[in-house]
Amino acid sequence: MAVSRSVMWGELKGMRKVETVEQMPAEYRETLLKIVYALVSTEFASVEQHQEWINKGPTAEDRFAQAQICADEAHQGFIDSRLLRTFGPEGEAYADRLLAARMGEHPLHAFNVPFTSWADLCGFCFLMDHVAWYHLRAFEDSSFAPFAREMTTMVHEERFHASFGARRIKDLVTNPRYQDLAKAGPAEAQATVDKWYPHALDTFGAAKSKFSDLGVMYGIRRWGNEELRQMWKADLDKQITAIGLVVPDAGAGRLIH
Ligand SMILES: [Fe+2]
Ligand SMILES: [Fe+2]
Repeated sequence: MAVSRSVMWGELKGMRKVETVEQMPAEYRETLLKIVYALVSTEFASVEQHQEWINKGPTAEDRFAQAQICADEAHQGFIDSRLLRTFGPEGEAYADRLLAARMGEHPLHAFNVPFTSWADLCGFCFLMDHVAWYHLRAFEDSSFAPFAREMTTMVHEERFHASFGARRIKDLVTNPRYQDLAKAGPAEAQATVDKWYPHALDTFGAAKSKFSDLGVMYGIRRWGNEELRQMWKADLDKQITAIGLVVPDAGAGRLIH
């Protein structure tokens, strides 16, 4: 999509976009710092989740896809943490802490949960990479100009991860040859959808959130937490049903409301 030079929505609409931290009003800076921090925390964490599976996929294409996903998440991690470092000593400290964090220490809970099988990895890509895709789409044409520019590659990377997951979950349900290769079928597909569904809903954050509202007001994100969660849910519920699986109860297993 085309990237505009002026802010496209919210209270700053029509103004020139923000390029650097020095230009930011205090509340804008505080809001963006929270958003970038949360984003950085997911990137290297998902490399950690995926890396041990790079060579375990049942087909050559699966192994290629895992290597590509790790490369994409590391690419996003380097870009996001470079943006975090532009916030000065505070951002530097956050970036150092996130780059040292290991499984169990990541701020967003879903990224501390390991994959237990190949089918489970496919379920993560199907549900959690769609979460990432919706999150990143909300930054397309962001009022923070560097974000808006980076989204022209990142959004498509996440689309690839999510589509890969959707296709493999469908193969586990309907494709006998893939079931044979993966040694898993509809029961494993349903189990991984059940596992990641509450994590995915939680990852959008609290429904009532000051920083979610400020993010939209300042034009940093197009949609707030709850709006994004409902967009994801409408889309994924439809996809889960179309594959022939059961949509889990949206209230079950949730930690964040
Ligand atoms: Fe990512
Ligand atoms: Fe991803």
